[in-house]
Amino acid sequence: MTRAAITGLGTAAGHNVVTNHDLAKTLDTSDEWIVERTGIHERRIGGSCLELGAQAARTALKEAEIDATDLDLIICSTCTPDQVFPAVSNRIQNELGATCGAFDLNAACSGFTYGVSLAQSQITAGMKRVLVVGVDTLSRFTDWDDRTTAILFGDGAGAVVMEPASSEDRGVLSTYMGSEGRFADLLTCDFSDLFIRMDGKEVFRQAVRVMVAASQRVLADAGLKAAEVDAVVPHQANFRIIESAMKRLGIPLEKAATVLDTTGNTSSASIPLAMDSAVSKGSIRDGDLVLLVGFGAGMSVAAALLRWGK
Ligand code: ACO
Repeated sequence: MTRAAITGLGTAAGHNVVTNHDLAKTLDTSDEWIVERTGIHERRIGGSCLELGAQAARTALKEAEIDATDLDLIICSTCTPDQVFPAVSNRIQNELGATCGAFDLNAACSGFTYGVSLAQSQITAGMKRVLVVGVDTLSRFTDWDDRTTAILFGDGAGAVVMEPASSEDRGVLSTYMGSEGRFADLLTCDFSDLFIRMDGKEVFRQAVRVMVAASQRVLADAGLKAAEVDAVVPHQANFRIIESAMKRLGIPLEKAATVLDTTGNTSSASIPLAMDSAVSKGSIRDGDLVLLVGFGAGMSVAAALLRWGK
């Protein structure tokens, strides 16, 4: 089976920094409460999905040393598109000057990892270069008067170019895409008010369970053990969720990539943002076994296990 490897990675952050102190000016909350319960200190707000997604994509193409016209497919994961249609991916395609097919997928915060899984299958089927963009502008759907949700979210984008791995022992080893629709009402954004509503406690509980199950599944499919994982790139929703999942997986917390202290929860963008930060810090290196694991509204869940490097 041809394995897909990440050959380029780029990110973009929302325009303005909004700190917990800024939120505490208008909400009955405090920096101390938010940091203790979530690990978030500040988030970045502003920008459209097109603008942020295209910026991240350009960096990813540059790092992969390919032109937009070389792409065979653009997959854009978003649950906060700029318009109902056309898809954000169509506009990104035009902005980049690409000529390939493009579509959006909505699997909430699991969407980027769903995209990696789809890119892997398309490369196995014969495609050569697939761009996966994860972008969300949750600030547009945040009720800024609701202290239970307003403290959590931010805007951002991340993108990867995926190509057939040039070495047999690099690239995606296994993937999993899951859905537990019976939990769909735990986290919603309805057409009636277009605000994010959630049962935070229950989302927390289910999130830890599905993240652990999905991670164990991709490890078992690849015939590998948790102890062999070098780095985990989890969805950045709440530091305590990451902490609980890592504990249950039996993987030291230091192996988890985190950026949510400065980004908040950026949904589809959170995994590539954390991945980019870990690569820059040297916490993900060539040959490392890397586990991506996301969860989100749906309740959706996805995991991918890859051997880092081209
Ligand atoms: N500041 C101060 N107090 C607050 C705040 C706030 N911002 N928000 C809630 N409280 C209060 C509550 O009113 C409650 O008060 P009470 O005891 O008098 O009733 C108390 O703090 C405790 O509230 P809980 O909801 O029990 O707090 P919890 O520890 O569960 O933390 C949180 C809440 C941070 C939302 C947590 O449940 C969480 O992170 N859940 C997961 C959410 C998540 O990951 N969502 C995104 C999924 S990804 C996607 O698809 C978009």
